[in-house]
Amino acid sequence: PYVITETCIKCKYTDCVEVCPVDCFYEGENMLVINPDECIDCGVCEPECPAEAIFPDVTEEGGRWIELNREYAQIWPNITRKKPSPPDVDQYKDEDDKFNKYFS
Ligand code: SF4
Ligand code: F3S
Repeated sequence: PYVITETCIKCKYTDCVEVCPVDCFYEGENMLVINPDECIDCGVCEPECPAEAIFPDVTEEGGRWIELNREYAQIWPNITRKKPSPPDVDQYKDEDDKFNKYFS
């Protein structure tokens, strides 16, 4: 499956959710996750993310985030329609260590 990684935090462009054939994106306050158990590995969401936050779980980056995606996909609500990014997205999009600073 594909998963969402740290770069999404405080960005939430949400272009990804529009293309998923199985609607397996879930929305938290500061980031989205993919339910890796519902993802059919089609790969169409990966190039849609302007922040390049989506990775296959077989990559090092994706592998580090799969358990967080799985855990929060059980808790957060499903999202299937694009919505506006936070107004301050440009301030955060290239920042490091966003998980420790902002994850919620
Ligand atoms: Fe959805 Fe395909 Fe992305 Fe998986 S890889 S989350 S099925 S769009
Ligand atoms: Fe996040 Fe990228 Fe989707 S920033 S909301 S993974 S388009």
